[in-house]
Amino acid sequence: MTTKRAATPPTTNKHLIRWVEKMADLTQPSAIHWIDGSQAEYERLCDQLVAAGTFFPLDDKKWPGCFYARSAPNDVARVEDRTFICSLSRDNAGPTNNWVEPHEMHRKLKQIFRGCMRGRTMYVMPFSMGPIGSPMSQIGVQLTDSAYAVVNTRIMARIGKQVFAEIDKDKKRVVPCMHSVGAPLAPGQKDVPWPCNDEKYIVHFPETREIWSYGSGYGGNALLGKKCFALRIASNIARDEGWMAEHMLILGVESPPNAAGNTEKTYIAAAFPSACGKTNFAMLIPPAGFEGWKVTTVGDDIAWIKPDAHGQLQAINPEAGFFGVAPGTSKRTNPNAMITLSRNSIFTNVALTVGTDGKPDGGIWWEGMTDTPPAQLIDWRGKHWTPASKTPAAHPNGRFTAPAAQCPSIDRDWEKPHGVPISAFLFGGRRPTTIPLIYQAFNWSSGIYTGATMGSETTAASGAPAGKVRRDPMAMLPFCGYHMGDYFRHWIKMQRSLSVTPRIFHVNWFRKDENGRFLWPGYSENMRVLKWIVDRIHGRVRTKETPIGWTPYFEDIEWTGLDIPKAELRATFEQLQRVDTAAWKREVMDHEELFIALHDHLPAEMIYERELLICRL
Ligand code: GTP
Ligand code: SPV
Ligand code: MN
Repeated sequence: MTTKRAATPPTTNKHLIRWVEKMADLTQPSAIHWIDGSQAEYERLCDQLVAAGTFFPLDDKKWPGCFYARSAPNDVARVEDRTFICSLSRDNAGPTNNWVEPHEMHRKLKQIFRGCMRGRTMYVMPFSMGPIGSPMSQIGVQLTDSAYAVVNTRIMARIGKQVFAEIDKDKKRVVPCMHSVGAPLAPGQKDVPWPCNDEKYIVHFPETREIWSYGSGYGGNALLGKKCFALRIASNIARDEGWMAEHMLILGVESPPNAAGNTEKTYIAAAFPSACGKTNFAMLIPPAGFEGWKVTTVGDDIAWIKPDAHGQLQAINPEAGFFGVAPGTSKRTNPNAMITLSRNSIFTNVALTVGTDGKPDGGIWWEGMTDTPPAQLIDWRGKHWTPASKTPAAHPNGRFTAPAAQCPSIDRDWEKPHGVPISAFLFGGRRPTTIPLIYQAFNWSSGIYTGATMGSETTAASGAPAGKVRRDPMAMLPFCGYHMGDYFRHWIKMQRSLSVTPRIFHVNWFRKDENGRFLWPGYSENMRVLKWIVDRIHGRVRTKETPIGWTPYFEDIEWTGLDIPKAELRATFEQLQRVDTAAWKREVMDHEELFIALHDHLPAEMIYERELLICRL
């Protein structure tokens, strides 16, 4: 089949045009479509996806501008075991990443990409991670045979004409991102609603700053600007240039006005592993007892953080949308998310509601959206479902794609080109035992130790079985594009370019009692912890010293509005904050396991911090 070429590409960049031609020769698409990013183009692509059976339009009154998609059952999450960092030396990828020699991987990729777009359109999609024109933004061009990836990226990033214009100014290097679902069509062959391939490759070349993704159309595997670029490649760029690319939400805390009418605004970035509460925390609505307090959202997943001329860290959210976990999201747990996703959004692998005739009625549902599930549904596999069914209606990694601009709590400065000033970093994971609700690290280096050794129970987002505690340093285990030991060193070195070092805290919303129940109510109640953190940042509260760090006095946490007797509260708080020396000794042994794996790149500071912790214990 001959390849139709656009008569005049909307760019004058010869490298880009030549690369597109070369990749078209390799992959043999039946057409090439240069993405302009317009609303009209978005609507045409959505119509096309509806016609192909990939999209199901939702009821325009209940869910205006929204679409539903169901993936293939073998393509539901990131695939960490198929993710590769192909640096020139294996040593540079480190023991926590899969590595293949780059020439060998290039050969393999050339082979599997040959003819892989036959019968499909190749979209040329330029995207900017970060606001257009921001000095902190980076540009990529994704070639993809997935219209689903294009329409999702239009929500998640800035795409199209305006980005071609940036490229043509020729100031910025472009990161080439190749993506194919790996399902070529023979002439006359009928397509499936979710084309993909059993064989998957998510490949990064850090030195040449290239991304090649094959076989998946889902989330971080297919929206290459997100994890592949904004974390794995960007972490390499950041190390070289002296900034940080982190798996962090960014939020602002605004106090009520003081006597003089002034409010205090404090920005915080927090690293929690996948499906551990970033989106929820970033959109927190303060509970009763916090009248006048406001939490604003800058980002919910990724932060690019750079020291400014005064040595103050400034952060931008490189994304423009939220690709959030649907199950568990409700008007009660996260009303801001529910409003954000109420229109112009895409839902993947949740359930469809049905009418009395058993046919889809244009509504959706997922576990936790309402307390009582509907009497019948069509589940994420397309099967009839009732509350008696043994499997969940929505896949645990079912997600919404929603525009950040629609978020009621979006920060006034969320697109500020120079970012917002960061006063503190939070680390936290899912830890049913051992780890207190909140503690503050003694200093920058002990804080880095805290982040470097953090652990969390695995979740459905990782593509591995859920529920086992694994070390996930700074929530970056699946996303750091180079040796984890060097990454710790980079954190340590960052302090040299700072005049004020952010305070570092560790939180754990997930500690459980003997009966396996969460000790902490979480969600909006996390504001109580957040306020103590803000008070610490501004030096307003004292602390209790423990072997692992500084902890709050019960009296210094704002408890107003909680309908629980003080004595009971105090007892629960003590249980939440307990530092069990025996459990912590075991914990330190677990730290050692990671450190042994990283030993030849491990900064000496991490060894000292470990020794200090052991002595204090
Ligand atoms: P990624 O998008 O994968 O990076 O995830 P995330 O860190 O943004 O996680 P998200 O906020 O979507 O939360 C994932 C799950 O954790 C949801 O099922 C939430 O209901 C649950 N969760 C969030 N915050 C809390 C909390 O404070 N307490 C408890 N118990 N669960 C929470
Ligand atoms: C995560 O897994 O941390 C996500 C979802 O944010 S994905 O973009 O699919 O990686
Ligand atoms: Mn994430």
